[in-house]
Amino acid sequence: MTKKLFVKTWGCQMNVYDSGRMADVVAPLGYAATDDMADADLVIFNTCHIREKATEKLFSELGRLRPHQKAKADRGERMMVAVAGCVAQAEGPEIQRRAPYVDMVFGPQTYHQLPEMIAKVSRGAGIILNTDFTTEAKFDQLPTAHADAGVSVFLSIQEGCDKFCSFCVVPYTRGAEYSRSVASLIAEAEKLVEGGAREITLLGQNVNAFHGEGPDGKVWGLGRLFFRLAEIPNLKRLRYMTSHPRDMDDELIAAHRDLPQLMPFLHLPVQSGSDPILDAMNRKHTSDDYRRLIEKLRNVRPDIALSSDFIIGFPGESDRDFQETMRLIRDIGFAQAYSFTYSRRPGTPAAVMPNQIADDVKNARLQELQQLLRTQQEQFNQSMIGKTLPILFDRAGRYEGQMHGRTPYMQAIHVQGPARIVGREFNVVIENVGMNSLTGRVLAAA
Ligand code: SAH
Ligand code: SF4
Ligand code: F3S
Repeated sequence: MTKKLFVKTWGCQMNVYDSGRMADVVAPLGYAATDDMADADLVIFNTCHIREKATEKLFSELGRLRPHQKAKADRGERMMVAVAGCVAQAEGPEIQRRAPYVDMVFGPQTYHQLPEMIAKVSRGAGIILNTDFTTEAKFDQLPTAHADAGVSVFLSIQEGCDKFCSFCVVPYTRGAEYSRSVASLIAEAEKLVEGGAREITLLGQNVNAFHGEGPDGKVWGLGRLFFRLAEIPNLKRLRYMTSHPRDMDDELIAAHRDLPQLMPFLHLPVQSGSDPILDAMNRKHTSDDYRRLIEKLRNVRPDIALSSDFIIGFPGESDRDFQETMRLIRDIGFAQAYSFTYSRRPGTPAAVMPNQIADDVKNARLQELQQLLRTQQEQFNQSMIGKTLPILFDRAGRYEGQMHGRTPYMQAIHVQGPARIVGREFNVVIENVGMNSLTGRVLAAA
């Protein structure tokens, strides 16, 4: 008999990837995915701890779930509830206290143990709290990514972080940096391509800090891994996220120069343009280091489009510091970016720094910054009109006859076309720019 699994995911792409792996782990137990939380036999909330609202979202979602769980119990059925991810790792006991009807609370390094945990709960072993750090066992024991996951898929190659930026919880929730072996990654990538994948995005909290064991027994960096992945036939596009400026080494830059498969788009968070703030953030690079790095990248790949993350209102940020961030944005020019007001995370050094910035100041600065970023994004999109770009189509769009794809620069695009274009690259002339995507006309196979 099939049982129903409902998964809700917050946070970064790593969590999206992990949710997929969790579904794969429980599939042999008879669980199939459902979109209907009310009817699920197993609910997994895969959580994010990066900013405070994330935790509150979890508790409000748990509150919404509780009546459904009760209704099921009244019918003599059981809804098992699991909280996974970074909030589980950081706040396990708090979750158990505030939501005692949750059956399992477990961190990101324990997903391979999910069948055992489910068995224990079924046997009535009581609430399970599992927040061990055992990254190696996890990757060795998880099934590899689903073979028919789609045209554009994720592949997690690295986990954890040793950088300890003073604002960030990730080193505490995900643990120390760990890289998978090159052999296991090539095998998984080949399987994904056999299953129809044409674009793979390599994932890691610090993906370019990758230092996996190569088949030659030596340590391989991300650049070297890309050169190897580029040899896989039919793998048309490669991407990666998220990177740290300090780990952009020459081999990775060479990969951008030499590999047509490596897409000309890079998400490279800088966080701030002010050197004293970067220092207080423990980023270990200056704003000019970042400018020089971008120059190097543009020298080898002039059309590379850039994205970043910004934190506004970090403790001690003066108007002048903020203006330095605005200046950096103007100097570089971003195709897109994410920006957030600084959020105090318990246990991180910045949370107890003096000179915390008032919310209204943070919000006013954020608006100014987002206005600039929006303008840059619009200009970037507008600059595509009339150009012919290779588009990889990955799925049908929402409307009849509409197909969805991506430009090399990560922009979404919709065209009218037959379903058979999905999974292939076509040249498309860009005709219009809408709110969230481009539109264009398909010319011919690229
Ligand atoms: N490893 C990546 C980022 C991981 S977290 C890097 O080093 O850049 C994703 C983004 O969340 C960060 O880039 C940062 O901009 C934001 N972020 C992290 N902690 C935050 C906090 N305490 N307040 C606000 N934004 C935060
Ligand atoms: Fe967080 Fe910094 Fe590590 Fe990125 S590099 S995950 S921001 S500690
Ligand atoms: Fe969030 Fe954890 Fe990712 S805190 S951003 S889900 S690593």
